[in-house]
Amino acid sequence: MVAERARRVEISGIRRMFESAPPNSINLGLGEPDFEPPREVVEAMCRSVQNGGNHYGPTAGILPLREHVAARYRRWERTTASANVIITASGSEALMSAALALYDPGDEVLIPNPGFVLYGPHAKLAGATPVPYSLIAAHKYQPDFDELERLVTPKTRAIVVNSPSNPTGGMFSPRSVDRLVAFADDHDLVIVSDEVYDEIVYEGEFVSFWGKSDRVVVVNSFSKTFAVTGWRLGFLVASPALAVELNKIHYHIMACPPTPAQVAIVAGYDAGRAATEKMVREFRARRDLVSRLLSGIPHLSVVRPVGAFYAFPELDLGVPARQVATDLLARGVITTPGDAFGSLGENHLRLSFATSRDRIRSGLERLRAYVEEAGAG
Ligand SMILES: Cc1ncc(COP(=O)(O)O)c(C=O)c1O
Repeated sequence: MVAERARRVEISGIRRMFESAPPNSINLGLGEPDFEPPREVVEAMCRSVQNGGNHYGPTAGILPLREHVAARYRRWERTTASANVIITASGSEALMSAALALYDPGDEVLIPNPGFVLYGPHAKLAGATPVPYSLIAAHKYQPDFDELERLVTPKTRAIVVNSPSNPTGGMFSPRSVDRLVAFADDHDLVIVSDEVYDEIVYEGEFVSFWGKSDRVVVVNSFSKTFAVTGWRLGFLVASPALAVELNKIHYHIMACPPTPAQVAIVAGYDAGRAATEKMVREFRARRDLVSRLLSGIPHLSVVRPVGAFYAFPELDLGVPARQVATDLLARGVITTPGDAFGSLGENHLRLSFATSRDRIRSGLERLRAYVEEAGAG
């Protein structure tokens, strides 16, 4: 009864864990800020809904919001204008629109392993074949260019990059970004750069792919930076020619992004960005706390996250991470098994530290007790 493409994809492992958790669990599973959006943004949302902003808007989004985004990206490429920007109904929709606009059936798409859960299924839904490339702790989660050269074929159409990364918390160095651009140019690949954590960085220099080549499509979102995951608002940045094609697909998926949310983000843009800075300061303190607590747990090693809000420890318990996550769930801690993000995540757990320091302390205390028991047995 259903199409082959529906049978080829599954709901992500992150959601499955969340939906089967006992009540009052400590949630180190879901990747969303535990902050409320800035007051100015919330008030503007209420005003927008009360004042009749409840109707369809332009497909590519309202102009003032596109202009705000363009101004932000002029940091990377000074000619960036609203014609480069499409507002989408979330980063997820932006990724899907990009996949359908860029990949043909039979194409191959290089995706990070481990990497965010949508890249592989989106490639498949577009009829393409995802080809995972490794990001490993021993290389501080930088790409291995020898491997990339081995994986690329005449069918390779695109490479998806995500820096800072969900799930690893790693970030590409400026040198990795330049080498990746050169690699993509050599092989005529489009770079789909998922930069939803670009403002959640603790150390090192974040470098956008925007402005590095004509064949870059940036995916971004207001979800994390404005703590509005439920509003579903994101955007794409691309060359005007690519933006026209992306916009067609975006139109056929969504017609237009949600109007009141866009009005609210415009009204609270400056306040929202100040709030992001405050939020990142708190995330940094939690990142330090998580790194310190994890370093005291046996059978576990971790690379200190430099961006996003995830730690991705590796366990050497001889127990698959999926089992560890299930056992922890029974102890009231939600985590995500690393294999939800690809085969190289197999012995890892993804721990989101977008939750209070107290909850982090109790969650990691339960993890420590579990690991000590499992390691002794
Ligand atoms: C790397 C990455 N990309 C994209 C998204 C999608 O974000 P949203 O659909 O909420 O904009 C997420 C959400 O977790 C993410 O972690």
